[in-house]
Amino acid sequence: MAAADQIKSLIKSYAEDDEHRFFATAMQIAASEARQGHTMVAQELKQLIEKAKKDKSVAFLESPKTVSISAPKRELKELIEVFNPRIDLRDMVLAPTVKEALTKLIHEQKNWELLKKHNLSPRRKLLLTGLPGTGKTMTAQAIAGELGLSVYIIRLDGLMSKYLGESIAKLRMIFDAMEDHRAVYLFDEFDSIGSHRDRGQDIGEIKRVLNSFLINIEKDQSNSIIVAATNLPESLDRALFRRFDDVVSYPLPDLQEVSDTIKKATKGYSFSKKPNYAKIAELAVGLNYSDITKACEEAIKEMILSGSMKLDSLEIQKSLSKKAPLKYGQTESQKTH
Ligand SMILES: Nc1ncnc2c1ncn2[C@@H]1O[C@H](COP(=O)(O)OP(=O)(O)OP(=O)(O)O)[C@@H](O)[C@H]1O
Ligand SMILES: [Mg+2]
Repeated sequence: MAAADQIKSLIKSYAEDDEHRFFATAMQIAASEARQGHTMVAQELKQLIEKAKKDKSVAFLESPKTVSISAPKRELKELIEVFNPRIDLRDMVLAPTVKEALTKLIHEQKNWELLKKHNLSPRRKLLLTGLPGTGKTMTAQAIAGELGLSVYIIRLDGLMSKYLGESIAKLRMIFDAMEDHRAVYLFDEFDSIGSHRDRGQDIGEIKRVLNSFLINIEKDQSNSIIVAATNLPESLDRALFRRFDDVVSYPLPDLQEVSDTIKKATKGYSFSKKPNYAKIAELAVGLNYSDITKACEEAIKEMILSGSMKLDSLEIQKSLSKKAPLKYGQTESQKTH
């Protein structure tokens, strides 16, 4: 018979919707039955647990749009921020190579059943590289929006611990969560664990976390989507690249993409005079999507505050000319204008 504490833990984890703890306790009960020589019961319990786990993840895949994704387990709350995005790929302006890679992933994810029938797995591990403000974080949101999933952003600062082995245990917890909750798991600013560079933290611990990440991502059989993003790809350990299904590089916008970004960012407003896109593109050289979007927002604010009904494209030009081109290694938030 299971100990009273184990039964209490089962009830509590059910009440708190802590699926991970629920299954962990159930496995403990099976193990203690086995130790007492009740091998048949132990075997039966193990099979029940495995089946329940499998049914749950299949249920997520069968109707991802309708299944509500429960909040991550309590212990994970410090490590993960949950977002339920309302955007999809159509909200982004994408270079053809990027668009192709993302469309492929979404198509395969939406047709996972057909692929599984042929013993194939859908693409689900992406490494995104590129300058700040080119849409890497936004992509994780858009993929989740397309598939009706949540985005779980991993707080890498919370992951790194000064206690030996603790970071690895936390990372393991995240990979376990991928099996329990189908979602888009975003390792943003991934270079902080993906590189060997010493950033004042215990370099040994970073190496251990990186090795553990390599092992975990290789073993991972979950139905979740893993997105790692970095603007320092050259600092990443080479062993990482082949662990991903696709490595997608995000360029700065070209002339056409600059005008498409302006059109998206000013949708629903009309201009007093047709914007001079050639001039705008000239001013936007070296600037990213984020700068262009912000310049449009500034023009919209100006229009509202001046009581005008029409947008002035000169305002966009004015704010673009004040923005500084990007430098490698900067993040969007570190950029000074
Ligand atoms: N490809 C894009 N299409 C449309 N808007 C974009 C695109 N890329 C970026 N933006 C705009 O810029 C903002 C910032 O982009 P995002 O956070 O995705 O950049 P990032 O590549 O993750 O940058 P960082 O490397 O600094 O993390 C977005 O919220 C969006 O408004
Ligand atoms: Mg980002």
